[in-house]
Amino acid sequence: MSDEPLVLGIETSCDETGVGIVRGRTLLVDAVASSVDEHARFGGVVPEVASRAHLDAMVPTIERACRESGVRLADLDAIAVTAGPGLLGALVVGVAAAKALAVGLGTPLYGVNHLASHVAVDVVEHGPLPEPTMALLVSGGHSSLLLVTDVTGDVRPLGASIDDAAGEAFDKVARVLGLPFPGGPHIDRVAREGNSVAIDFPRGLTAGKDMERHRFDFSFSGLKTAVSRWVQLRERAGEPVPVADVAASFQEAVVDVLTRKAVAACRAEGVEDLLIGGGVAANSRLRAMAQERCDMAGVRLRVPRPGLCTDNGAMVAALGAQMVARGRDASRLDLPADSSMPVTLVQA
Ligand code: KG4
Ligand code: ZN
Repeated sequence: MSDEPLVLGIETSCDETGVGIVRGRTLLVDAVASSVDEHARFGGVVPEVASRAHLDAMVPTIERACRESGVRLADLDAIAVTAGPGLLGALVVGVAAAKALAVGLGTPLYGVNHLASHVAVDVVEHGPLPEPTMALLVSGGHSSLLLVTDVTGDVRPLGASIDDAAGEAFDKVARVLGLPFPGGPHIDRVAREGNSVAIDFPRGLTAGKDMERHRFDFSFSGLKTAVSRWVQLRERAGEPVPVADVAASFQEAVVDVLTRKAVAACRAEGVEDLLIGGGVAANSRLRAMAQERCDMAGVRLRVPRPGLCTDNGAMVAALGAQMVARGRDASRLDLPADSSMPVTLVQA
């Protein structure tokens, strides 16, 4: 018998129904059912469609996770669930399922923050998190720089996007280029054939006064507009749009700012470890440039494998297991789903 906690985590903040099980820092299973195909024709996630898909997928995904891991629900030490931030109707499905399991099994319930989970998941791949760790979280909903002293309780935001999230910018630019939703992986793929210095797109919040007020903040909406305008001018002139060059130059602008600010934040805070998480951390150019710049700055880089960067249940289970291991109290059974849960609140 292991004395490491066996924890099942449920994630439903957006369009992935994720159920993961970990024992301590060992990942036993990561079952994900995505409704992304149902949203593709709308060019973005439709909250009502996502909620309904979670309701359909929840029990089958829990059953699949147990079957594939050989874990019996009765053996679980705790249930963890994303309490926020995210789409309210989607979160409610996961929170209700987690409460039902916790009540039925008589296990403690941990309502956790989605963003802290994106950080915590890396322990299943790269071992315990150094304390402190700088975390760059880049997803469809968020772009933040976080100083993480204790992922179960002390997460301090240093900066965030003041407009679009990084993934949102990828998705919107992909749309302009006629690529499918979600656009990030398509831009990543197409950009490999393009020239990243073909077009000099703007780097938001990196110059002069902006750096005084927004040193570790991000802005991608100006970049998105610049790309749209550039493409429009080409189309109006009746010239072909060099999709690969636009994708590569756009991607370079995003990745340049993200990595520059992340490494600068490590230097400013004297932090030697940088972790990148969230869906955009799957981006191959981001991973490569972050590695180069971290090497130059003497910063150690940790990036979970792409499947653990996008939303999943394992990340929630991983954070829950660390809460149990640190002896944190369980959440109350009337814990709410909080669509705008602040990043500083790790547990609901
Ligand atoms: O973390 P995530 O799965 O969901 C949210 O919490 O938002 O992130 C989804 C985002 C989408 O915007 C998607 O386009 C982006 O991550 N993404 C990528 C890549 N893979 C996913 N962006 C750039 N390059 C990729 N390879
Ligand atoms: Zn996420």
